[in-house]
Amino acid sequence: MTRTLIQGGLVITAGEELSADVLVDGERVAAVAASGTEVTETWARGADRIIDATGLYVIPGGVDAHTHMEMPFGGTFASDTFETGTRAAAWGGTTTIVDFAIQTVGHALREGLDAWHAKSEGRCAIDYGFHMILSDVDEHSLKEMDALVDEGVSSFKLFMAYPGVFYSDDGQILRAMQRASGNGGLIMMHAENGIAIDVLVEQALAEGRTDPRYHGEVRKALLESEATHRAIQLARVAGAPLYVVHVSAEQAVQEITGARDLGLPVFAETCPQYLFLSTDNLAEPDFEGAKYVCSTPLRPVEHQAALWRGLRTNDLQVVSTDHCPFCFTGQKELGRGDFSKIPNGMPGVEHRMDLLHQAVVDGHISRRRWIEIACATPARMFGLYPRKGTIAPGADADIVVYDPEARQTLSAETHHMNVDYSAYEGKRITGRVRTVLSRGHVVVDGDAYLGRTGHGRYLPRATCQYL
Ligand code: URP
Ligand code: ZN
Ligand code: ZN
Ligand code: ZN
Repeated sequence: MTRTLIQGGLVITAGEELSADVLVDGERVAAVAASGTEVTETWARGADRIIDATGLYVIPGGVDAHTHMEMPFGGTFASDTFETGTRAAAWGGTTTIVDFAIQTVGHALREGLDAWHAKSEGRCAIDYGFHMILSDVDEHSLKEMDALVDEGVSSFKLFMAYPGVFYSDDGQILRAMQRASGNGGLIMMHAENGIAIDVLVEQALAEGRTDPRYHGEVRKALLESEATHRAIQLARVAGAPLYVVHVSAEQAVQEITGARDLGLPVFAETCPQYLFLSTDNLAEPDFEGAKYVCSTPLRPVEHQAALWRGLRTNDLQVVSTDHCPFCFTGQKELGRGDFSKIPNGMPGVEHRMDLLHQAVVDGHISRRRWIEIACATPARMFGLYPRKGTIAPGADADIVVYDPEARQTLSAETHHMNVDYSAYEGKRITGRVRTVLSRGHVVVDGDAYLGRTGHGRYLPRATCQYL
């Protein structure tokens, strides 16, 4: 077993900041102690390898609880495989992902889950778990939910959007929530009124409004907040907790805040694209706006303040990427002349930790809040804590040595995601990953990638630990 000492850094967890040394024994954290003490000097003498973290942060590896590697959508597949997507995640300091296995209509949950295991097994650079997307809620799939929770797939995404594909009606949603309230599962909701949106899509196209920016106009903030409100009320009726995914509209944040003010177990995430991008990007000329088509859509820039505030007040608890990349050439282009045919989703798994560090630099959140929303709370929310999301004795040694002063410019030229554009092309970031350990193995060291396809292990998860 290799003993690694990470020496002299500022260890930041959700709970504290401490100038400390971290001793890693094999795949786990063995101990953490204040730097420069007798005990850490003894560790240094016994270490096989010392990583000098002087002047640097030592933080838990990021936990991205919302990714879609190789996801089928609109006749194509998200362009990152489990291999390329998890490697890019590692480059960006994320050491755990929770991806979405998909039930297809007419098929069992088990089939979908088996298919996602087959795609990912032996391919991942970092550890990974699965949520399950329910596309066909019926007696059979409701029963299957219990078995999935027991084996570590303890969260289920439902869609109020995409009629005919992933959509569930209110009765199906209520039944799934009732089941989850009995078996400890967490319902994750894509909250947009897809029935109403489809009417507006049809009307827009009939009037010749075919540009990417109309994707944002028809998927109205009110149709996000209406669905968020409805999901909250259905969860109350079912007595189930609720986690709303990819919140982008200020009005939806208000619904969530109102529910939490009543003491309800309602949780939510937002994503970097909603914090840093806006409808201005969707309106870029020459079909460039297609690069920013995702659902929920990007909003006018005014919505960002509510998202930042929600992150500070803990009305929003998590930032995930919803990484679902499609190349501009050949994939996004499927929607030239009809925005509704642009595959929905954006790349981002590599940049979440950096963008949120930039948010620290910009004064939106504190350093500890950065770690809380990007590492600790997603781990707790999805039953991975304290194995993931913190630096403490017994935790997996998923650790990032982060240089808070380094400068970088995000670009498709330099990123590692398998996609031909960057949504943040040219954006300057203060802060950069220096070294990444995944279960004690150095997978990134400066400009060198030292990871291995298949190093990443599947993570069966406990139920939500955030309740
Ligand atoms: O546009 C998005 N978000 N694509 C991924 C699927 C989803 O709804 O999360
Ligand atoms: Zn089948
Ligand atoms: Zn969604
Ligand atoms: Zn998603």
